[in-house]
Amino acid sequence: MRPFAWVETSAEIRELYSHDWTEDLRFLPDAVALPSTVEELQQTLAYAYEHDIPIVPAGGRTGLSGGMLPVKGGWVISMEKLNRILHIDTQNLYAVVQTGVITQHLQEAVEAVGLFYPPDPSSRGSCTIGGNIAHNAGGVRAVKYGTTREYVLGLEAFLPDGRPIRTGAATLKNSTGYNLTQLLVGSEGTLAVIHTAILKLLPRPQYVRTLLLGFPDARSAVEAVVAILQNGILPTAIEFMERDAVLFGEAYLGEKLYPGTEKFGGLLLVEVDGNHLESLESDCFRIEEIAMERGAMQSWFAQTAEERERLWRLRRSLGIAVKSSGPYKEEDTVVPRTVLPELLDYVKALGRRYGFRSVCYGHVGDGNLHVNILRENLSEKVWREEVPQAVEELFRFVISKGGAISGEHGIGWVQRRYMPLQFSSEEIELMRQLKRVFDPKNLLNPGKLLPD
Ligand code: LAC
Ligand code: ZN
Repeated sequence: MRPFAWVETSAEIRELYSHDWTEDLRFLPDAVALPSTVEELQQTLAYAYEHDIPIVPAGGRTGLSGGMLPVKGGWVISMEKLNRILHIDTQNLYAVVQTGVITQHLQEAVEAVGLFYPPDPSSRGSCTIGGNIAHNAGGVRAVKYGTTREYVLGLEAFLPDGRPIRTGAATLKNSTGYNLTQLLVGSEGTLAVIHTAILKLLPRPQYVRTLLLGFPDARSAVEAVVAILQNGILPTAIEFMERDAVLFGEAYLGEKLYPGTEKFGGLLLVEVDGNHLESLESDCFRIEEIAMERGAMQSWFAQTAEERERLWRLRRSLGIAVKSSGPYKEEDTVVPRTVLPELLDYVKALGRRYGFRSVCYGHVGDGNLHVNILRENLSEKVWREEVPQAVEELFRFVISKGGAISGEHGIGWVQRRYMPLQFSSEEIELMRQLKRVFDPKNLLNPGKLLPD
């Protein structure tokens, strides 16, 4: 069954699209559609709708919640060939892009004309704008600039049967009707297939300055975050890495952060940006001073662009470094920032109780801590039955403190069983009804986001 030239059914291609970056999960699709035009996308959807074929839209397949896994079979529609930057409006400061564009390609294209697209997920070299919109991706610059959501002004999409819709406008303000744009952001491909986005751009800051701070232990590093933010300076990024995270990253890349960083239980990577170099340098010194008052014992200022690149390369590699070390589960907790020290203690106490090792790092400037639970020598029983209980306890704690179970990776396939911890049955029912309005046949990314 190969109704269109752009629908592939070979075993190799189906295998390639059977997984993303989530754990070691694999679900084979029946076919993979690779439309090169919006018309081909529309025809694919209309055909699949008529034949009751489940559809899973896919971006760069770098997701960490299994959002693109074809868990009910059907077709994956990869958006990778719909990857054109249609327009960069340098006067009105927005871009119109097809959603298959790689995030880093958009960043570079707008930076080349003096503009800035701030959302910056660690996977930026392979993730797509569509995937970022589907999960409301965050990344390292969310402290100052917010997440993908803040940059989406309007969308063009297809309903599951191929009918087109447009949301929003190419304006910064818009009080016109229900905000369907923001309903689609974070909807994980369950409501519509987004093919074009109007994205807000900013003027590009001219300078960045980056420093690394070493703390005796992980807790004191995350404790310093609130103090840093209380001093009238808003950094672009405040990233946390506990010692083990750095060691994983160094082993994976085969390069060192700085000599001696292994002496520190926790590190903060802080970056500031702006147009006045002197004020950025004084901001960095002030941040260093606050950190020292809070127990930091050493600081390193990136002296060159290459040095800064090396710091970020290491930080960005942590996810893949932990993943390549063996089976693990990645949780994406987010809490009000003052809760971070307690959250870290809670994670470590859970580990002692259940017998697992965890590796924590993340975007602590916005309260987002990635908790990686390593399988190592845990028995099948503990891994399958007890660790999910530990995760549930962790999520209950996070929610009780005003937080959420995912800050940026989304719910997808692996977190949906925990949705009832965050939402009441009425709230989940409202979401189900929304899903039915958009997708009455339940063909669009079925089995995701909502619990059974
Ligand atoms: C990161 C990804 C895992 O922060 O979200 O590197
Ligand atoms: Zn992250």
